[in-house]
Amino acid sequence: MNQWWTDRAIPASRSGLRNALDLMGILDSRQLLMRCYGLSLSDQYWIRPKGTDLSWEKINFFDNPFSEDIGDILFEVKPNHEILNFRSPDSTSDGNLRKRWKIINGKRFLVKGGSEPFFQQPFNEVIASEIMERLGIDHVPYSVTAIQSRPYSLCEDFITSETELIPAWRILQTKKKRNETSAWQHFVVCCAELGIPGVVPFLDRMIVLDYLIANEDRHYNNFGALRNAETLEWIGMAPIYDSGSSLGYNKVTRRISAGEDIECKPFKRHHEEQLKLVLDPGWIDFGSLSDVRELITGVLSSEMAAETIDEERIEAVTASVEGRIRKLRESGAAHFGKPSSLDDDRTDNTAAAYH
Ligand SMILES: Nc1ncnc2c1ncn2[C@@H]1O[C@H](COP(=O)(O)OP(=O)(O)OP(=O)(O)O)[C@@H](O)[C@H]1O
Ligand SMILES: [Mg+2]
Repeated sequence: MNQWWTDRAIPASRSGLRNALDLMGILDSRQLLMRCYGLSLSDQYWIRPKGTDLSWEKINFFDNPFSEDIGDILFEVKPNHEILNFRSPDSTSDGNLRKRWKIINGKRFLVKGGSEPFFQQPFNEVIASEIMERLGIDHVPYSVTAIQSRPYSLCEDFITSETELIPAWRILQTKKKRNETSAWQHFVVCCAELGIPGVVPFLDRMIVLDYLIANEDRHYNNFGALRNAETLEWIGMAPIYDSGSSLGYNKVTRRISAGEDIECKPFKRHHEEQLKLVLDPGWIDFGSLSDVRELITGVLSSEMAAETIDEERIEAVTASVEGRIRKLRESGAAHFGKPSSLDDDRTDNTAAAYH
């Protein structure tokens, strides 16, 4: 319970957290949890202090408005009143990048930034979601907006007041992994025993996407399953979200072109090895990606991107994606569904660096 509660707080590695806590006069992000009753916009858990008559209907953030104060402070905007209102889902949000929840036209959106020096992640989210749209992969759609002249991605909450997101990380804990079982097999077996439908086709799609965009951070908290929070019935895997740490987001242009040192998660250390886990590639419609050059150059050529992303970088990103599409189309058969070596399995904890 303690571990779960601690994990629910904003991770210590969150960009800008230290300053935000100093501004609030709070020592540790765990202290924020109690003040929002642990409520989140990604699941339905909360605590009710003894002796209060609070009800879920009255306080949940799916149906009720929430304070902007925590989000403002995390975004370095000082609220113009003395006494802060701590009722905010921003106190339970996960991940390293600066982020906040916003209600826009009655809908809940996650607003998420990028990192120095290129601030490329928000654009990558859009490119990844457009690629998934073309390939028919269930995904969270992202768009980009400017805040304080920096790009931020916007995506709508895919959880409702009846559903919850269970990260893959939690699913993995339901069984002990045997040494001779691969990371992929272990995850598939855990899901099968829980009765989560559609897992292998989902993983096929996620692995292919992550190869195409050279995703370097698909750790076990960056995908998961959906469950009905009332009946506890498994709905299936969650639409794909958080694909921004990709397309050479933190590399200099020369290294993007060289295609070197691309990290792979969650199952294998190398994307080529991870591709071997794809059992059915029949759904990949390469023709749908024929406009990928226009797609990527279009997104990365916006006025907002021009601040940190130059033409050479756009060309390097575009050419590397085209190259990987070509490779997959021409030699996919040599990769897919092949026995893969356990030597390349990830044995480290790739749930997240911040655990
Ligand atoms: N659209 C959404 N609806 C509901 N929950 C979401 C949504 N997007 C993200 N989340 C939740 O918020 C968490 C943080 O978001 P996200 O993974 O996008 O941030 P991040 O800072 O990029 O993370 P990381 O540190 O993994 O790079 C996710 O792990 C997930 O639990
Ligand atoms: Mg994440």
